[in-house]
Amino acid sequence: MKILVTGGAGYIGSHTCVELLNAGHEVIVLDNLSNSSEKSLDRVREIAGKDLVFYKGDIRDRACLEKIFSQDGIDAVIHFAGLKAVGESVEKPWEYYENNIAGTLTLVDVMRQNGCKNIIFSSSSTVYGTPEEIPVTEQTPKGTCTNPYGWTKSMLEQILSDIQKADPQWNVILLRYFNPIGAHPSGKIGENPNGIPNNLMPYITQVAVGKLEKLGVFGDDYDTPDGTGVRDYIHVVDLAIGHVAALRKVQENAGLKVYNLGTGVGYSVLDIVKNFEEATGQKIPYEIKPRRAGDIAANYADASLAKEEMGWEAQFGIREMCADSWRWQSNNPNGYE
Ligand code: NAD
Ligand code: UFG
Repeated sequence: MKILVTGGAGYIGSHTCVELLNAGHEVIVLDNLSNSSEKSLDRVREIAGKDLVFYKGDIRDRACLEKIFSQDGIDAVIHFAGLKAVGESVEKPWEYYENNIAGTLTLVDVMRQNGCKNIIFSSSSTVYGTPEEIPVTEQTPKGTCTNPYGWTKSMLEQILSDIQKADPQWNVILLRYFNPIGAHPSGKIGENPNGIPNNLMPYITQVAVGKLEKLGVFGDDYDTPDGTGVRDYIHVVDLAIGHVAALRKVQENAGLKVYNLGTGVGYSVLDIVKNFEEATGQKIPYEIKPRRAGDIAANYADASLAKEEMGWEAQFGIREMCADSWRWQSNNPNGYE
């Protein structure tokens, strides 16, 4: 199939481009490079040994989208493009709603005008808010988000679902990612955050490479086995392969589908530190800090629906996630610079 990948130069997008090319799809990337480098796409070409088409442009730019759709005859869109920094979204809610929601509305309008009604959307486990029970299934009620970023995901799920209900020709696959970490085993592509990382794994790898002094562990008094926060970490390559599986649901005309993409296993912050140290031989000094506002104690997925319906299941374990994150960081201490 001919796939438009919005946000394809970013962390999850670049890994997904590799898997799409490996699976024999044609790939067209649209990215405004607001949080990425075009160099990631050169690395994608290198890893896959195949070419892709790149448009530097914005999902809010209707003329740019029209040009792509009129020239390229897109079969489906995998929609990663969006702003994703939780803290920044609290400071700049307008920018987040405008980029993520207005951008998606423009994209979807141009899609339908060009007869392309297949979209796979990057949602997040954040839509569950503070779940009453874990593991969460797709039936677990959506909850109250603690920040505008989370609300953009929750609202976009609703918008895309309503569009599909009104016009059943649409195939809308909502993928709720748990915590993506790791990098391509080649060490050529990976996560490249701007400034000081907010998320756990890039913070750890930057401590290991000597850019940051020590990890702050946000709270050790949660109701979890060791008191630190528990999450469902998933290797980014597994996540990428999940998108190739979701395309098969599109080809089956599955309509509206929602899938959790996680491993089903929860690890605490201290579990991650220990596994990282054992997988890489790097010592990670840390200190306990107060809880971070908006964090929940624990969350992990019941990912059995994705297995049942898409035949998809995570393959990589926590050691591989740690080793691959480290290979990327140590080979590329300054990211793509
Ligand atoms: P990322 O920032 O690396 O990738 C997003 C890409 O979108 C970037 O390359 C950025 O330049 C591009 N972009 C942003 N706004 C754009 C616009 N208006 N037009 C064109 N391009 C634009 O982030 P990622 O971690 O790869 O995340 C991809 C998607 O998955 C995002 O929608 C994110 O919200 C979602 N997601 C990420 C996580 C995570 O922990 N990384 C978890 C759940 C969901
Ligand atoms: N943590 C630390 N120190 C740090 C960073 C994180 O102790 O420096 C802890 C957090 O308190 C949490 C765990 O590590 O317990 C994971 O934190 P992350 O920031 O890596 O991930 P979150 O689960 O908070 O959230 C991330 C994204 C959300 C997304 C969610 C699920 O930031 O946008 O994963 O995909 F919704």
